[in-house]
Amino acid sequence: MNNKQLVAEAIFAVVKDDLTFEQIVQLLENPKSADHGDVAFPAFSLAKIFRKAPQQIAADLADQIDKTSFEKIEVVGPYLNFFMDKKMVSGAVIKAVVEEKAHYGDASVGNDRNVTIDMSSPNIAKPISMGHLRSTVIGNSLAYIMAKIGYQPIKINHLGDWGTQFGKLIVAYKKWGSEEAVKKEPISELLRLYVHFHEVAEEEPELEDEARAWFKKLEEGDEDAIQLWQWFRDESLQEFNKIYDMLGVTFDSFNGEAFFNDKMDEVITMLEEKHLLKQNQGADIVDLTAYNLNPALIRKSDGATLYITRDLAAALYRKRTYDFAQSIYAVGNEQSNHFKQLKAVLKEMGFDWSDDMHHIPFGLITQGGKKLSTRKGKIVLLEEVLNEAVQSAEQQIMEKNPDLNNREEVAKQVGIGAVIFHDLKNDRLNNFDFVLDEVVRFEGETGPYVQYTHARAMSILRKAEFTPDEKATYVLDDSESWEIIKLLQKFPDTVLLAAEKYEPSVIAKHAIQLAQAFNKYYAHVKILVEDEQRDARLALVYSMATLLKEDLRLLGLHAPDEM
Ligand code: ARG
Repeated sequence: MNNKQLVAEAIFAVVKDDLTFEQIVQLLENPKSADHGDVAFPAFSLAKIFRKAPQQIAADLADQIDKTSFEKIEVVGPYLNFFMDKKMVSGAVIKAVVEEKAHYGDASVGNDRNVTIDMSSPNIAKPISMGHLRSTVIGNSLAYIMAKIGYQPIKINHLGDWGTQFGKLIVAYKKWGSEEAVKKEPISELLRLYVHFHEVAEEEPELEDEARAWFKKLEEGDEDAIQLWQWFRDESLQEFNKIYDMLGVTFDSFNGEAFFNDKMDEVITMLEEKHLLKQNQGADIVDLTAYNLNPALIRKSDGATLYITRDLAAALYRKRTYDFAQSIYAVGNEQSNHFKQLKAVLKEMGFDWSDDMHHIPFGLITQGGKKLSTRKGKIVLLEEVLNEAVQSAEQQIMEKNPDLNNREEVAKQVGIGAVIFHDLKNDRLNNFDFVLDEVVRFEGETGPYVQYTHARAMSILRKAEFTPDEKATYVLDDSESWEIIKLLQKFPDTVLLAAEKYEPSVIAKHAIQLAQAFNKYYAHVKILVEDEQRDARLALVYSMATLLKEDLRLLGLHAPDEM
């Protein structure tokens, strides 16, 4: 039980005729300063009911409330400040963590139902971008968070592997490409061909017709076209997989846009049967005026389908295949309109489950304040960024701990972890600038700082040869440990909040606060000194390390025991 609930219970026992338990919980506040206790109750709202001054009500309540769970209750003007019984709370919290370990904070909200997570989803024959990195790490963290509260996450990589651009690519390859060059550096070569196509097509527009013809062949299953497409896809995917391996991210499905090529007819037939398709200059659209949205273009006048047509088929397929309780799309903010249209069309089709679809948008990663774009040839190769992060981590480890055994492995966990953490620590909608040196710092609000704190705690436990006893009750009542205890106690609610807001940063912030609280503790308290509280302090360190590691896991980071 959390502190607010304990306080609400005590107040409720006295005022049950006048306020509900829920109303009391709503009124309770968390005082900014520890001097004002752990929970505060403003008595204003009772003034009307009791026809007394709030100050008087506060004083009366303080007399009547059962003090079992509290060290003291102070009346400050109209406020009641509750100071929790630290012994009681610390005993219960540490016991729960020691017993449940990494399962502390698990919940069953999801009832084992499926949640599909559309994430990463880069485009074939193009470099995987910083935006795709964001989608990958946000989606991956959400998968861990949703699993923690009892959902079954299904991670889907909706590859951009279909569309008119493949007609262009085939034309370009046939005219200017070679097998050798593509094999050597698949993505850069395919990108070069694609860019070259556009340059030449400006002078020779008939190339566009050729490209359209090739895409049509591809859609119709022409063997030559399919073979090339398949090959481009395989080569690209191999490159993407290198990055996924580095990030430690796996997927349950790689069914991308191409997978839905033969599943769009059904959607279009349904739209026709429901009389939702309107003709507009030869194209088929769905009018969305009622939703304050532009019409959704479903089929072009030449019969070609679009991105949204494939997403409609995909949504339907996912509902049938996974019967999802929620379907989330971790995709950049710039596609907000697309997802509004997607949901609106499904709603028009009568699928109320479209309400369970959530676009989880995020902001841009910039460099030097500027947007990174592929078009202007300013491609940042993600693999290089990750490699540099690992190198930087390795250098710092070499300085700090030259004798570390598995240095390479740890450097990978720290360097890559730093990039992931940096991405997840701010509200996902914020834009942020990527400066590698700041990302991989061991101080400040960084992944390495949190990992380092965890390793420091583990080293204390090793030194003390301490393993907590599940049957013991470890009790602490000093104000130094209290800051840590409160953060341990808050963890289950933190997980729920992160899931509710689809916001990994809630977890990252908890990790930073916990690490900071522990480092303060470590600076002020002699943990290993031989007195009667030594075991309790070590149990606290153990609990802290356990939840720090769990925070990191939920973000997709490792927590090395030594670094
Ligand atoms: N391939 C798209 C892009 O790179 C992202 C796909 C997102 N998922 C989806 N179901 N539309 O912009």
